Amino acid sequence: MDKDIEKLQQMIDGSRRIVFFGGAGVSTESGIPDFRSVDGLYHQKFDYPPETILSHSFFISHTAEFFDFYRQKMICLTARPNAAHRKLAELEAAGRLSAVVTQNIDGLHQMAGSKNVLELHGSVHRNYCQKCHKCYSAEEILNSTGIPRCSCGGLIKPDVVLYEEQLDSRTIDESLRYISEADMLIIAGTSLTVYPAASLIRYFRGSYLVLINRDPTPMDNRTSLTIHGKVGEVLGQIIVR
Ligand code: APR
Repeated sequence: MDKDIEKLQQMIDGSRRIVFFGGAGVSTESGIPDFRSVDGLYHQKFDYPPETILSHSFFISHTAEFFDFYRQKMICLTARPNAAHRKLAELEAAGRLSAVVTQNIDGLHQMAGSKNVLELHGSVHRNYCQKCHKCYSAEEILNSTGIPRCSCGGLIKPDVVLYEEQLDSRTIDESLRYISEADMLIIAGTSLTVYPAASLIRYFRGSYLVLINRDPTPMDNRTSLTIHGKVGEVLGQIIVR
C-alpha cells in the first residue's frame, strides 16, 4: 500500500461521520465521460456548445434538439457502478459514511447500494410532466422520439438542473448540514469549477479534508491529503474495518 493510500486508510479508520462530495470523474471508470477533461463532453463538437444545449432557455426554444442531445449524451443506462461507488456504499453500510453529495445525475451511487445520496444536479431517472407531474423513467425517455409528451399531453422535463436553473434548496440545506457535521470530507472526481455546488465544501469544519482527482484543482494545496489518481483505483484499495 503506497504512503498516500496508507494515510487515507488511517484517516478513514479514525473517522465516523465521513461525507463524500463527488463529480463526473467518479463515473468515468464506469464508462461515462466527464465534462471538462480533454476527452470530456465539453470538448466534443456539436451544432451548439453543450453548455448552451444544457440550458433552460435552449430547452424552451430548441426542445427537440435538447432531447436529441439529452438522449444521446446524458442518459447512459449501460453504465454500472465502479469500485468507488461500491466502496462508498460499503462505508455507509458500516456506519462510517453519513452522506454522498454528488453533482452527477446517473444514479450509480444508488445502484451500488448507497442510501443517503444528495443529488445537487438532479437525476436522469426522474422526468416529470410539466402539466400533471406524472413521473417517467430514463428508459421511457430514451425510448421516446422527438419531444416526449405525457399521456395528458403535457411536456415531460428531466429532473436535471440545467444552466440558468436553481438547485433544490432542500438538497442544498441537507448537504450543508452533513458537510458541516462531518469529521472527514472526501472530494473526488470534480474540477470544482461549477457554483453553487463547489462552494458547499467551504462549510467543512472537520479534521480530514481529502481530495482525490486525476487533474489539478483549485483546492489541491488546501487539503490534509491530495491524491492525483483514479478515484475507483484509490478507494478500491481501502479496507472498511
Ligand atoms: N478519478 C479521479 N478524477 C477523475 C477521474 C477519475 N477516474 N476521471 C476524471 N477525473 C477528474 C478530472 O480530472 C476532472 O478534474 O474529474 C474532474 C471532472 O471535472 P468536470 O468534467 O468539470 O466535472 P464536474 O466537476 O462534475 O462538473 C460539475 O458541471 O457541467 C456541469 O452539471 C455539470 O455536474 C456538472 C458540473
